[in-house]
Amino acid sequence: WIWNSRSTGKNCCNKSIKKECSKVVDSIDMEDIAKGGKACFCRCWQSRKFPYCDGSHNKFNATTGDNLGPLIINNE
Ligand code: FES
Repeated sequence: WIWNSRSTGKNCCNKSIKKECSKVVDSIDMEDIAKGGKACFCRCWQSRKFPYCDGSHNKFNATTGDNLGPLIINNE
């Protein structure tokens, strides 16, 4: 097995997000998160709003038996 970042094979976590890039990197400024608000970031690679969580991890977990969930950043 040879790792290929652009592969969409079953061994890849990322099936569709920014596959044209050699590495998926996102940067968010704290100023972009409303004071007192929060931002939820996807860690399951299933979100259609990546890098934000859209709740797709729930279906993924139900289907696979996994326990993935988002990273939540609170701007308090
Ligand atoms: Fe990926 Fe929620 S959709 S962690």
